[in-house]
Amino acid sequence: MDLPRTVSIIGTGSYVPEKVLTNHDLEKIVETTDEWIHSRTGMRERHIAAPGQASSDLGTEAAKAALADAGIEAGELDLLIVATLSPDMFFPSTACFVQEKIGAKNAYCYDLGAACSGFLFALDAAKNQIASGAVKTALVIGTEKMSTFIDWEDRGTCILFGDGAGAAVLQAGGEGRGIMKSVMGSDGSLADLLWTPGGGSRNPISHEMIDQRQQYLKMRGREVFKHAVVRMTEAVVQALEKNDVGVDEIKCFIPHQANIRIIDAIAKRLGIADRIYTNVEKYANTSSAALAIALDEAVKDGTIQKGDLVALTVFGGGFTWGANVLEWNR
Ligand code: COA
Repeated sequence: MDLPRTVSIIGTGSYVPEKVLTNHDLEKIVETTDEWIHSRTGMRERHIAAPGQASSDLGTEAAKAALADAGIEAGELDLLIVATLSPDMFFPSTACFVQEKIGAKNAYCYDLGAACSGFLFALDAAKNQIASGAVKTALVIGTEKMSTFIDWEDRGTCILFGDGAGAAVLQAGGEGRGIMKSVMGSDGSLADLLWTPGGGSRNPISHEMIDQRQQYLKMRGREVFKHAVVRMTEAVVQALEKNDVGVDEIKCFIPHQANIRIIDAIAKRLGIADRIYTNVEKYANTSSAALAIALDEAVKDGTIQKGDLVALTVFGGGFTWGANVLEWNR
């Protein structure tokens, strides 16, 4: 049997819509304060898509930036995966809309649903497709228009989310280890702590469902917080073990950007506070886009350099969680 091939990220890109919504703006929408939001979450502002902009539009901008960064044409892509919990429509997939917009004629395309963990799950799926030899080049996108699916009357959730997209181009080859092995998990018994209960086949669209505001994201924040800290910490420890990497070897640690207090708690447990990358202050929680945007920014601002080992970790509805280690090789 052939040895698995090295799979590398050869380009990254991200995009956030123009409109900025600050905590002070939120004070005019729900009963809250900038002080409350910042002290509980670390967030100052988030970006909100224009009414006519859908998730595929945000994802397309991130995709174009990633392809330009990689220096390849869209026609060279064999596979395109979009991670999203805010698709343009139930079907066809948002990935097919992005394919059309960027001209990725030779790619097969699908959406992946793992809530906020989606980008890492998609990265792992694409990596394994490439490592197996089934495809050579893949584009992975995390894109969200969360502003459509949050309840702007619920101060416990509407302050937490923002819109945006991030993307990475993956290809066979490259020096060193590239994208290493993931650790991922799910626990469906806790689905009701973070979900959107209405609008699907369980609780279809009806006047009653809409009157009850079931089409919007619901969350039990305190419980989600605890699980997020435990699962992401465990996942990082397991991913380091699985890849035979010591915590001290990690140059940059990028967690899901959900809340600065969650990030700080993980950093403290792992003893890595000096190497954490965060941008939650600027974008809030952009769900499956968050990790992708942070990775792109960390590369572009020089935090991540060639040869660095980088640890990624995510957590989201389902529950779903995971971690991976990369050797940055470009
Ligand atoms: N402004 C002011 N007060 C608010 C508020 C807001 N935006 N949102 C909630 N409150 C109030 C609550 O009503 C509650 O009031 P009460 O004590 O009178 O009932 C009080 O603040 C405390 O609420 P609590 O839920 O205990 O706050 P918290 O310290 O747990 O912080 C979250 C709330 C949502 C910020 C926090 O639980 C959290 O971030 N959880 C994780 C969420 C997450 O990351 N989800 C996505 C995972 S992918």
